[in-house]
Amino acid sequence: MELLSPKRVQTFKAIREDEVFSLIKSISSQKGSTINLSRSVASLSYSITSRAAFGKRNKDTERFKETQDELNKLSSEFSLADMFPSVKLLELMSVSRFRIEKVHRQINGILESIINEHKGKMQESAKQEGGEGKEDDLVDVLLKMQKRGDFEPQLTDTNVRAVILPRQTYQQCEINGYDIPAKADIIVNAWAIGRDPKYWIEAEKFNPSRFLDSEIDYRGNNFEYIPCGAGRRICPGISFSQAVIELALAQLLFHFDWKLLGEVKPEEFDMTENLGVTIRPRNDIQLIPIAYGGSCLIKG
Ligand code: HEM
Repeated sequence: MELLSPKRVQTFKAIREDEVFSLIKSISSQKGSTINLSRSVASLSYSITSRAAFGKRNKDTERFKETQDELNKLSSEFSLADMFPSVKLLELMSVSRFRIEKVHRQINGILESIINEHKGKMQESAKQEGGEGKEDDLVDVLLKMQKRGDFEPQLTDTNVRAVILPRQTYQQCEINGYDIPAKADIIVNAWAIGRDPKYWIEAEKFNPSRFLDSEIDYRGNNFEYIPCGAGRRICPGISFSQAVIELALAQLLFHFDWKLLGEVKPEEFDMTENLGVTIRPRNDIQLIPIAYGGSCLIKG
């Protein structure tokens, strides 16, 4: 919460503007040709998040992205062992579990290298007169907290690494009559909750206006709509992502009109979803940007 507070999100303004500006410039140079918008937006999102978290790009942050992509792919695969956790043999036979553990080990190694590099830079700048010159990234903030001893018990490198990835249940428990084993990855089906006809009129219809003049928000206060989770495990990145989404979306709409490929009408556009931990369109979104007259970039 401290790391991604609205105040700290403000400090990443220059990174957001820089990366969104690069994207708009790159799209402008391809006006009239087909753009893979899914890939451009995923890359924008990674660039902003990794610069805010780790600072400048280097070989470690690039390797982190590759292994993270692989982990996301593996985590979204259907796993029989997860469906029947009491059958231990399935877990032993599970290829994806074995691969996930291997990728976890790789990610730990990369994070360790990123943390060590930050520690080295902090020592160097402490020796130099005047000390800190640049904005802190998230790893700097965590390391400074560790150094000041803000946490009891002491924040270790392992904790710092753990803050940066996934969680598991630490003990067995029961929810709604279901036994949840220790060390299980638990994913609440927010997708199904958000489409429950008990709470939503025309639940399947894409109708953003339903939120106008509505008391329901996405910050975990209304359990019928929890895209960012709720309670103690709520997403701490809400302010961070809201700032990125607003700026990127506003710029993409301000600078370009967007055309579908061929003769496809908007209502025929392929909205088929992929199965996974987070839902994405099955096929990448490909569009043609048509420039509006204006050429100035809004700062946001
Ligand atoms: C539109 C963007 C985003 C959405 C929809 C989203 C959604 C979510 C959801 C549903 C959870 C799980 C909550 C739960 O378990 O109940 C979560 C957790 C988390 N999110 Fe996000 N998130 C977004 C962006 C971000 C960003 C940009 C960051 C960091 C820079 C971030 C950091 C985290 C972290 C660290 C957790 C784990 C929290 C915990 O386990 O205590 N998220 N997010």
